[in-house]
Amino acid sequence: MRKLFERVKRHVDFLIIGSGIAGLSYALKVAEHGKVCMITKSNEDESNTKYAQGGIAAVMYSPDSHEKHVQDTLIAGDGLCDEEVVRMVISESADRIKELIEWGATFDKNEKGEYDLAKEGGHSEHRILHHKDNTGFEIERALLSAVHKHHNIEILDHHFAIDILTQHHLGIEVNSRTEGIECYGAYVLNLRSNKIETVLAKTILMATGGAGHVYSTTTNPVIATGDGVAMVYRAKGRVEGMEFYQFHPTSLYNPGESPSFLISEAVRGFGGILKTVDGKEFMQKYDERKSLAPRDIVARAIDNEMKIRGDDYVYLDCRHLDKSELIKHFPNIYQKCLSLGINMKTDYIPVVPAAHYMCGGIKVDMNGRSNIKKLYAIGECSSTGLHGANRLASNSLLEAVVYAHNAAMDAIEENKNAGFCEEIPDWNAEGTHYPEEMVLMIQSLREVQAIMTNYVGIVRSDIRLQRAFDRLEILYKENEALYLKTTISPKLCELRNMINVAYIIIKHARQRKESKGLHYTVNYPRS
Ligand code: FAD
Ligand code: SIN
Repeated sequence: MRKLFERVKRHVDFLIIGSGIAGLSYALKVAEHGKVCMITKSNEDESNTKYAQGGIAAVMYSPDSHEKHVQDTLIAGDGLCDEEVVRMVISESADRIKELIEWGATFDKNEKGEYDLAKEGGHSEHRILHHKDNTGFEIERALLSAVHKHHNIEILDHHFAIDILTQHHLGIEVNSRTEGIECYGAYVLNLRSNKIETVLAKTILMATGGAGHVYSTTTNPVIATGDGVAMVYRAKGRVEGMEFYQFHPTSLYNPGESPSFLISEAVRGFGGILKTVDGKEFMQKYDERKSLAPRDIVARAIDNEMKIRGDDYVYLDCRHLDKSELIKHFPNIYQKCLSLGINMKTDYIPVVPAAHYMCGGIKVDMNGRSNIKKLYAIGECSSTGLHGANRLASNSLLEAVVYAHNAAMDAIEENKNAGFCEEIPDWNAEGTHYPEEMVLMIQSLREVQAIMTNYVGIVRSDIRLQRAFDRLEILYKENEALYLKTTISPKLCELRNMINVAYIIIKHARQRKESKGLHYTVNYPRS
């Protein structure tokens, strides 16, 4: 039966899409300057942020220095970081951490009352502030609590952003990805009422996080379907660096569990050692920093060992570490392993790489501005130039708060002269009356994930990318046809978004005729 959507139109000063660290910290900054509406597609705390384990990188004490953090970031980024951005983010790190603490986030301290700084891959110093092994949970909790207290911020949970509004919705086509496009708000599906609302805003922030679910195995929660990147790409926004999808080297090997549980890099920073299933160390063959080399190197090494040996996983060995300190630092990881019969004090932990972080995204300037007027993007969905070809561990939470600040300052100014585009029509549901065909959508999603995992994973080649491109094109055409006639739903939109994002990853990977950071291709090996 045909489903008709009731019309609702909202007017807000600042529209924020996404309630992770990026959206929440931006909201707290702009809220003194106008009405803030934050929409989020699931429970308000469901986000990649909530699952962050290791912590947030910042220079706190000597012998660490800004210069060391800058150099570590540049080295991990394999020559593709924007050095000006790297220096800006790192020089602002302490101020932004101070704000997080003022908003109520707590980080572990040692007996001397100083922050207990951890170490992770690619870092030359201990510089990771953390809250046990669930830092993201603590940050999300504190930010949400601060946001709830602010009278000017409204959070609409279970609201799904379908598309952003541009001239296209006024019947004007803009063909360029570089200029002339303007954003007026978003079409949003209220999942409680099933109404599609038109949210008009003076400025719009995209803070929708990553896209781990384009791959079969990921550490990301189910919300990570690349919606923001896909929406902006469809609206002719610029997207870059999508070939650099980061695989975390050590997710817990537990077939059938999705998302995969992460075994934090901080465990290796604490002394955990990678070994093959016959108990032999192998990282010395690949990098002098061994188990603490940057992620791209470690993930590739594990992938290679598994392939040449025919094993399904490698081991992380913590048995030699101080047992009470191990449990004190990693209580959640310890409990999770124990629940599967693995005692990390006495047993090896089986681990495999899993899709973890989208280094590329919506291209923005130092203030988080995209090429679309009045549209900002920050956090994991953005590409700022900080990460280059490979993100340094624990730099993403930092990037999110630094860009939340910069974007907020810019948007507050932008809002002063901005208005609403009242001519935007309501959502047109005409023709979209077929009930959703779950079997088609589930099968297509599995195919996307299989294509991406088998052909566009840790090791790539021209022929694999060509095959991925050809297969995906079929899925794209099938799904666009389905999208045009089916009653709108989050699953349908997410599938469409994941197909769009997979297409961009493949496109960018095919354009890069070299092995660089996370993009490794056998056709262009490193010299
Ligand atoms: P998210 O926190 O992912 O928030 C995105 C929000 O957008 C969610 O609220 C989501 O529901 C919403 N959303 C998405 N699409 C839509 C839509 N269509 N409509 C409405 N709402 C939408 N980084 C570190 O720096 N240190 C760490 O220790 C660390 N550990 C990690 C561990 C794990 C297991 C994972 C998965 C990631 C980790 N990361 C870590 C990465 C880091 O957590 C993320 O990059 C960061 O939290 C992203 O924040 P964000 O605000 O950009 O996005
Ligand atoms: C981890 O704890 O290993 C995740 C850190 C990160 O992704 O930055």
